[in-house]
Amino acid sequence: MSLVTMNEVFPIAEEKKIAIPAFNVDTLEIAQAVLETIEEENAPSIIAVGQAAIKDGKLEALASIVTLLAGKMKTPVVLHLDHGQNFEQVIKALRAGYSSVMIDGSTLSLADNIAVTKQTLQAAHAVGASVEAELGAILGSEDNISHDDSKPFLVKVQDVVDFTSAVDVDALAVGIGNAHGLYKGRPNLDFGRLREVAEVCPAPLVLHGGSGIPADMIKTAIEIGIRKINVATEVRLSYVKGLNAESRSEDYYTMTNSGKCCVKELVREKIRLFSRR
Ligand code: G3H
Ligand code: ZN
Repeated sequence: MSLVTMNEVFPIAEEKKIAIPAFNVDTLEIAQAVLETIEEENAPSIIAVGQAAIKDGKLEALASIVTLLAGKMKTPVVLHLDHGQNFEQVIKALRAGYSSVMIDGSTLSLADNIAVTKQTLQAAHAVGASVEAELGAILGSEDNISHDDSKPFLVKVQDVVDFTSAVDVDALAVGIGNAHGLYKGRPNLDFGRLREVAEVCPAPLVLHGGSGIPADMIKTAIEIGIRKINVATEVRLSYVKGLNAESRSEDYYTMTNSGKCCVKELVREKIRLFSRR
């Protein structure tokens, strides 16, 4: 099946009151393992390519791999640019065939975030791609994206009202205390703020920093209205864990197959948790 946009998978999430997983992929092997599991589980999902992979020169190559593999699948797959840094990068991704893009204007003023999101929406919708934006900040750091934790990070409800009145985004990532990378201790997510945001936000809500969030908190977030959850760190760590487990074999395919098995196990677990199976 050719790639779809987030607008094809969010209605499924809303109807079933589940969250669509967004898994970051960084190598061919990880992409194979994630997509195989998505197909086995028949779970419409998002494949995200993040800034570290892009910095490593993989924007186009990973797009070709995912487009090719997804084309052989029955399960709907979205190919998504994660944390798009600027309009130029969005255009590069759209040209490479991404069916969805995030423009991360969370470090900009509200007015500038609206402006760059408007520009992105015009370009992306012109080619039938979906758009995610971000309000508030995701704590922690990952893929060279970091937030100055001393600055306010919680999304403001009024900003959500003003932002979504100005731009018709297909998804909105919000900062509620979630962080990129692994958490030190139990995450401190502000579900009260999430409830207030869910009441006023017309767009499907996105939770970044999915790695390390305990199952009970994931379930609460989905009940309140989160419809997309991003997972990157745990995907990478599971692949490395598998490689290391077989490092003594000193055999490439023994190691990478072990890495793929570990990724498949993690992806299956997240799919079942996010879809409340
Ligand atoms: O944009 C990617 C996600 O927010 C990943 O966060 O590495 O904490 O799972 P994570
Ligand atoms: Zn993120």
